[in-house]
Amino acid sequence: MNAGRSAVFLDEMGIGPLWRRRGMPLAEPAAPVAVAAAAAAAAAEAEPVPAPATIAVAEPFAPVVPEAPPADDVAGMDWMRLKSTVAGCVKCGLCNGRTKTVFGVGDEKAKWLFIGEGPGRNEDLSGEPFVGPAGKLLDNMLRAIGLKRGENAYIANIVKCRPTDDTGRDRPPTPEEAAACLPYLQRQIALIQPTVLVALGKTAAVSLLELGHDTPVSSLRGTVHRYAGLPLVVTYHPAYLLRNMADKRKAWADLCLATSAYASA
Ligand code: URA
Ligand code: SF4
Repeated sequence: MNAGRSAVFLDEMGIGPLWRRRGMPLAEPAAPVAVAAAAAAAAAEAEPVPAPATIAVAEPFAPVVPEAPPADDVAGMDWMRLKSTVAGCVKCGLCNGRTKTVFGVGDEKAKWLFIGEGPGRNEDLSGEPFVGPAGKLLDNMLRAIGLKRGENAYIANIVKCRPTDDTGRDRPPTPEEAAACLPYLQRQIALIQPTVLVALGKTAAVSLLELGHDTPVSSLRGTVHRYAGLPLVVTYHPAYLLRNMADKRKAWADLCLATSAYASA
């Protein structure tokens, strides 16, 4: 990663002053993300589940055996079926409090897959991941490495429904909730076939790497891990970075590591 790109990144991330070479241009502001289009596309793809076929029976009262595969055979689903299944999912208690499921958004052929924790309030209302201030920072991080949501980048979360505590505030998903939802993300990975995964924050990192929830992100940075045979780089969650400006430089180093993992994959 050259000094010019680094300067752009740090500038996008609100860190200055910068040593910028004279004449080195900064990136243009990105166009607003087509939020509605992605949500509409997901909704449009929902299809009715066909009634299970029945077999002819020789005698009355013989059991009827359905021929269709089990409805929760997530590993075999195409995009359309996966989206409609998630939209109606009641596999964990998070279904009770949600307004909308947040499936994920971006280029379904992306080489880069960014994985966050789970929807917050804004995402629960809009149905799209990372739409609040943390999302704006994530978009800046993407732009700094030449990506854009919808263009060679896909953004998903560990859980698709918003976790809240007793007082209605956002909280991380429990390991049980993460485990219940993980097959959907695994299927998204299998369908997208990305080249590199970036775990945004502790929940994504420990859920994918099957580590204890007290594992600090700092101990997972700087190493190219593997998940589902793919390189996985761990960095800080954008919401954390908004509260801890100084660590934005470390996030830049993490994205540089991910870029080199991408290049050598
Ligand atoms: N934080 C996340 O981890 N994911 C979102 O979609 C929004 C905020
Ligand atoms: Fe289903 Fe995941 Fe929502 Fe739980 S969080 S209800 S597993 S979609």
